[in-house]
Amino acid sequence: MSEVITIANQKGGVGKTTTAVNLSASLAVAGKKVLLLDIDPQANATTGLGFSRRDYEFNIYHVLTGSKKLSEIVLETQIPDLYLAPSNIGLVGIEQEFSRDEQDYKTILREKISEIAKEYDYIIIDTPPTLGSLTINALCASASVIIPIQCEFYAMEGLAQILNTIKVVKETINKKLKIKGFLPTMYSAQNNLSKEAVADLKDHFKSKLFKTGEEFIIIPRNVKLAESPSFGKPVILYDGKSTGSIAYQSLATSIMR
Ligand SMILES: Nc1ncnc2c1ncn2[C@@H]1O[C@H](COP(=O)(O)OP(=O)(O)O)[C@@H](O)[C@H]1O
Ligand SMILES: [Mg+2]
Repeated sequence: MSEVITIANQKGGVGKTTTAVNLSASLAVAGKKVLLLDIDPQANATTGLGFSRRDYEFNIYHVLTGSKKLSEIVLETQIPDLYLAPSNIGLVGIEQEFSRDEQDYKTILREKISEIAKEYDYIIIDTPPTLGSLTINALCASASVIIPIQCEFYAMEGLAQILNTIKVVKETINKKLKIKGFLPTMYSAQNNLSKEAVADLKDHFKSKLFKTGEEFIIIPRNVKLAESPSFGKPVILYDGKSTGSIAYQSLATSIMR
């Protein structure tokens, strides 16, 4: 069975999509069969892997509304073992559609994933910057969640909200949900605020930081990570020796252990 991991944080611009794309690609290059599931209407993971709206007819909207099976929308990518379930801006209306029959909307994604769970080693879900019904669906479908934290002044602000949402999901629909870890992102060694953010994270969540050996895994601010989506490639294909790519490969290694 596949391990399902959600990447979530209701703050925008903290590195969710960068983490989802590059963790997925690194796992696939390491020999795992991976499905990246894009459930953000902004579809940045989809475009970041080089797909535009012309390239696919159906997307996760059609799966969540029942007109397509998940297996029918999956696309092959430039990396042989990496597959993508694309998103599209058309997904924006779904939160309203869900709220109309609030009965069991929270477990729709879980049901769809269960139909294909045997086929992949990992299913990674990239979520929108909200704690709305899409993110709730992802949390209900997952074994664990990775929370990217941008290394800046307000790094930990808003963390209570997502931790509370995770707690509620755990107490109600998905008892097995775990926090896989907090991932410091966009770290600059020259920036004192970056250092303070990492120090804060170590103070509060030391046991929930990822490690390679004795070293904590911290994603550096790296221009290759920012550039690679515009070339439609994960960083491992764009510049596999960059500090950003190496950091995401370490994250993949720590997750495979
Ligand atoms: N480690 C990094 N170094 C440099 N730029 C980054 C890094 N992580 C993310 N970015 C850039 O920051 C912006 C926001 O990142 P993104 O992953 O899209 O965040 P989110 O999905 O949380 O909104 C994007 O332009 C992305 O390319
Ligand atoms: Mg994103």
